[in-house]
Amino acid sequence: MSKKPIDTKEFATKILNSKKYRHLGLNRSTINDLVHREAQIQSSDKAIFKTVRRKLHNIVAPYLGEPNYASLLERLSEIPETSPQSEQILSFCLDVLSEHASTAERIPHMSAFYEQLFQRTGKPERLMDLACGLHPLSFPWMGLPITVKYHAYDIIQVRIDFINHFFQKLGLAPYAENRDILVDPPDYHADLGIFFKEAHRFEKRQPGCNRSFWERLNVDTLAVSLPAHDLSNTHSLIEPHRRLIENNLPGHSTVTELLIENEIVFLIDHPG
Ligand SMILES: C[S@@+](CC[C@H](N)C(=O)[O-])C[C@H]1O[C@@H](n2cnc3c(N)ncnc32)[C@H](O)[C@@H]1O
Repeated sequence: MSKKPIDTKEFATKILNSKKYRHLGLNRSTINDLVHREAQIQSSDKAIFKTVRRKLHNIVAPYLGEPNYASLLERLSEIPETSPQSEQILSFCLDVLSEHASTAERIPHMSAFYEQLFQRTGKPERLMDLACGLHPLSFPWMGLPITVKYHAYDIIQVRIDFINHFFQKLGLAPYAENRDILVDPPDYHADLGIFFKEAHRFEKRQPGCNRSFWERLNVDTLAVSLPAHDLSNTHSLIEPHRRLIENNLPGHSTVTELLIENEIVFLIDHPG
């Protein structure tokens, strides 16, 4: 008797409705892509599903922190001010940023971080925040005007809805989008793309995928940041992360480095 083919749709629906993920509104194309790729490598359905679940856990990374968006939205709606520099907005943003490990680490030196970054890249008029997490809440420290076109991408719908509410509160256009940037990279032009603290996870999802992903982007500069130390701050990750960038650097591009506290930023010119 021939083997019944995997029903990707049914499997994706099961994951999307699972207790672990149903409140997030995960992007279905991420799961479809993982299943499709594993089906070509693994020998059994059981092995496919096990690997997809493991990879998805690493991609969504719930261990880095996930705030309660309903209560944050309620709090945001009660703030009368709309200026990014107002005390209540700043305090709100700091509370949100502290709820995710990636953004929490940057809090002590945020202003210096964007000052140094934009000194090298120039201030963007159109910015792509690729795999954004809660990073758009750092907007008040970026020194950018609210006319900037800030496109933010993540695969978690509740996060995207929250970011768009936040953008609108400040007067920014609501350009946050639920999109899997690896499956479906944005193709319009931006002066700056930022891809912070995610390239090493992309390598785990699909080894070697960063190069073709970067090549598909239409940006003048791509700033890829990676942690300079491990989470417990016991050893340096600079050398392995330098290798990750070298191994994925598009042939025609050059790269320069910027070390800002615990983050190493690789500035890649015209990757696409
Ligand atoms: C480690 S956090 C990084 C957050 C942010 N870049 C920062 O440095 O503060 C990774 C985020 O990327 C999102 N993500 C992972 N894979 C993605 C993909 N293929 N497309 C879009 N977003 C993705 C996750 O949902 C998560 O919110």
